[in-house]
Amino acid sequence: MFITLEGPEGSGKSSQIPALAEYIRQQGYNVFLTREPGGTVIGDQIRNVIMAMENTKMNPRAETLLFCAARAQLVEEVIRPHLAQGDIVISDRYADSTLAYQGYGHGNDLTTLRRLLDFATGGLKPDLTLLLDVDSEKGLQRRRNCGGEWNRLDAYELQFHRRVREGYLTLAAAEPQRWQLIDAGQPVDLVQWSLRQAVLARLPAKAA
Ligand code: TYD
Repeated sequence: MFITLEGPEGSGKSSQIPALAEYIRQQGYNVFLTREPGGTVIGDQIRNVIMAMENTKMNPRAETLLFCAARAQLVEEVIRPHLAQGDIVISDRYADSTLAYQGYGHGNDLTTLRRLLDFATGGLKPDLTLLLDVDSEKGLQRRRNCGGEWNRLDAYELQFHRRVREGYLTLAAAEPQRWQLIDAGQPVDLVQWSLRQAVLARLPAKAA
């Protein structure tokens, strides 16, 4: 089973994932965790290019292709093999991030992006996508407060983050059977509880 977590900046995704993974393991499943951009040696190199503060001149199409290149590597090298051996794979971001950020955020054509994503992933879609939804101002504020590393992408305007959030909500509404909306504005332990409930309801039956 392939589970992805999505959400705008400061939604708390990355801090929730380890506890969620541990909980699923306690239910008797093998869990493999990964994240985007990155997750492979090649992908981490691409991540450094994308995130580097000095790359201010990066063209949005170049950025999109780099995200897709890292993803193509991750899918073939890591995700598919783990799924093939029956693991629960959890990824901190996946293709929907490209639709939300490069599509809704930057205004790249969604149909073109979907074709590109299909090519990059070989058509691999998540079984369940958890959207940690948070108000844009609150999310950006959180990101600054928790002293997380400030990167080039964080420097975009608040308007951009609003478009990203709205984009996610639109994607979720269009495919409700795959997406599960989680209110990330709740206290952290409640967010964790909501994530666990959403996953529990979908976990495959274990082999006897
Ligand atoms: P990261 O430091 O991993 O942040 P986060 O904890 O929010 O995931 O940075 C990832 C950044 O890259 C984040 O701003 C979202 C952005 N991104 C895209 O714009 N498109 C993509 O396809 C992906 C995977 C990430």
